[in-house]
Amino acid sequence: MVDDARRHASYPLSLPKIDVNVANTARTWNYMVGGKDNFAADREAARQLVMVAPVMVAAALASRAFLRRTVRYLVGGAGIRQFLDIGTGLPTAGSTHEVAQSISPECRVVYVDNDPVVLTHARALLTSAPEGATSYIDADARDPHAIIAEAGRTLDFTRPVAIIMVDLLNFIRDNQTVHFIMSALIDAVPSRSHCAIMHPASDLDPAMLEAERRWNRLAPQKIRLRSRAEVAALVDGLVPVEPGLVTVSEWRPDEAELAPAQLVPLYGVVARKP
Ligand SMILES: C[S@@+](CC[C@H](N)C(=O)[O-])C[C@H]1O[C@@H](n2cnc3c(N)ncnc32)[C@H](O)[C@@H]1O
Repeated sequence: MVDDARRHASYPLSLPKIDVNVANTARTWNYMVGGKDNFAADREAARQLVMVAPVMVAAALASRAFLRRTVRYLVGGAGIRQFLDIGTGLPTAGSTHEVAQSISPECRVVYVDNDPVVLTHARALLTSAPEGATSYIDADARDPHAIIAEAGRTLDFTRPVAIIMVDLLNFIRDNQTVHFIMSALIDAVPSRSHCAIMHPASDLDPAMLEAERRWNRLAPQKIRLRSRAEVAALVDGLVPVEPGLVTVSEWRPDEAELAPAQLVPLYGVVARKP
């Protein structure tokens, strides 16, 4: 009963267990993208990653820029009005609903994360324009059927949905599980739905492999980088939107971003269900 209530809560009903002495994924990422919701252990983890892979600084910012551009494309170019953003992270300027509703206020956005730290900040994600809606689900991506069932309270699964997974699937290390998640989600959405993925690359910059090893020593939520072929396999059966599977800085760069954008070892792809 309490668990059920907590799942739908716009804020936690009881304080979850949070250890500020251990590097936390959402807080470390928050630090990397310029946020303030982080602690010394998170900043130290980020420092260690950047020490072995200095490109991570540009990569984190390029990833957020990719998220903004994909959401803009999905609303403005593909006509999408419903979003399922899994692996949301801590609220940061330019969250999915802010970008989507700035173009079309009736957009409906469901956020999903399994981290109690994110749950405690979820209220900041529930600031929908009155014409649209946002909700937050405290759930694990490895349980896609539960996510779909809960998300159905906010989203209409007979109409196209964009599934956003930016820097999420690298936390699902097992290949069978990652493919199970992808097919369960894609099966649940109708034709003309889209999927936007950012996944760190294993085959573009050897420094990233050292960063992966460091992170996996420091943090409880371990990661796995994937090659281009492995990321392409995630969207097998979908139709990639131009320019296809590229690094995030190459995915439809804004004119303003053209000059400074640095190539970063993160793959980005947006693909449509035929
Ligand atoms: C690196 S952050 C990315 C945040 C955000 N998508 C962004 O691009 O700024 C990864 C997020 O995925 C969440 N996450 C990792 N594994 C997950 C899982 N199995 N189920 C749900 N969320 C997960 C983490 O808690 C974290 O908030």
